[in-house]
Amino acid sequence: MTHLRRRPALLAAVPLAVTALLTAADPALAAGPVGTPGVGDPYFPLAGNGGYHVDHYGLTLRYDPGTRHLDGKAVLTARATQALTRFDLDLNGLKVTALTVDHVKAGHRRDGQELVVTPRRALRKGERFRVSVTYSGTPGPVTDPDGSLDGWIPTDDGAFVAGEPQGAMTWFPANNHPTDKSSYDFAITVPEGRTAVANGVLLGGRTAHGRTTYRWRQAEPMAAYLATATVGTFQVRQYTTRDGIKVYDAVDPREAAAAGPVLAKLPAVLEWGSRLFGPYPYRAAGSIVDHAPNVGYALETQTRPVYDRAPDLSTLVHESAHQWFGDSVSLTSWKDIWLNEGFATYAEWLYAEQHGGDSAQAAFDALYARPAADGLWEFPPGDPGSGANIFGTPVYARGAMALHVLRTTVGDRAFFRVLRAWAAAHRDGNGTTAQFERLAEKVSGKDLGSLFATWLYAQGKPNRP
Ligand code: TRP
Ligand code: ZN
Repeated sequence: MTHLRRRPALLAAVPLAVTALLTAADPALAAGPVGTPGVGDPYFPLAGNGGYHVDHYGLTLRYDPGTRHLDGKAVLTARATQALTRFDLDLNGLKVTALTVDHVKAGHRRDGQELVVTPRRALRKGERFRVSVTYSGTPGPVTDPDGSLDGWIPTDDGAFVAGEPQGAMTWFPANNHPTDKSSYDFAITVPEGRTAVANGVLLGGRTAHGRTTYRWRQAEPMAAYLATATVGTFQVRQYTTRDGIKVYDAVDPREAAAAGPVLAKLPAVLEWGSRLFGPYPYRAAGSIVDHAPNVGYALETQTRPVYDRAPDLSTLVHESAHQWFGDSVSLTSWKDIWLNEGFATYAEWLYAEQHGGDSAQAAFDALYARPAADGLWEFPPGDPGSGANIFGTPVYARGAMALHVLRTTVGDRAFFRVLRAWAAAHRDGNGTTAQFERLAEKVSGKDLGSLFATWLYAQGKPNRP
């Protein structure tokens, strides 16, 4: 009897002895290999996490707009890119009530925006694993370095949910950096009469006991910041375009009159984009037009941008262009943000030029006329300097100017081939400014080093091209 009872104790003692030996040899190894708390983004050092990739998020949410209470369960299917005795998720606020790894209870603690997970058993490099996190609380937005709010932003009838650059972690545990792209399933329960709108295709809505559950599927890979679960009282319209894209529009009735004529242009805008940039990357599309006057911006949430008010046509074009540039081809680092905003702004110029408005040259000239002291020249778009500048005027306007100089240098034929090659080569993936520069040189056969050095990286107002 004594013998039997001692055996588990002896087995348990072995790892302890190994740990002790390792501690003596090298204290850093004592804990075993751990995932880093960030992916190394210079502007957002804690964004994302090292050591694994998430293939799929299954998010089950229940939101009560009256009390602003959220109950959530997130099931992440992931792959370890190294051996892991411990890894982090990003989660801001909210209370974790249960956490398992491969169905076994795991250790977890909070450290600021990091949710530190210690699985019972270490994960091997290359191993697939499943993390289940049950959580609840009253979600709210994060304040970004530039003072704007993002994440879960309560409204008078629900919530405006937009996560760029950091806010995804305010409503689900995430590997919160655009380098990790995943498919998503959502099941969002809200009081009957409210609508919960996420990304991708609507699989169904079911009402029982005064609540409706909306199920959405985003099949193509998506960065966490592009996920939404916007809740409100919405007028809904669904149809399929000539190209077979499933469109779902949700519009706050207070914005419906102003939004209607603009949203009606979406199929034409997507067809226009497909001709210019290559095939629209997703099977679903649409718009969420909320009434959230305190937000102050729209976001290109994947397949279905979310607007804080009725958009004008150029804003619809901007967010639509992001579906190619930003959503399908995603950033590798936030400092490359001009790859999103410069491209989407230049798309606005192209759309105007091709639809009876100002030429892109006229838009360029009007900006170039601004004096050297203007905010437009405050920092270069390819190197904004900090997270506080990523949505600054130089990123949008001088970023678009850089593309215009590229176009006038290589000619229309080569320029539009570059845009299409960029969208095709990095579709559902990521890209860097350096890769874009190389591609532009390859397609055009020109040395573009000084063009990019001047328009993307040089301080101050460049000389006239
Ligand atoms: N990317 C958005 C756009 O289409 C803008 C945006 C998102 C933004 N989050 C923001 C702007 C936060 C300012 C602050 O341009
Ligand atoms: Zn934009």
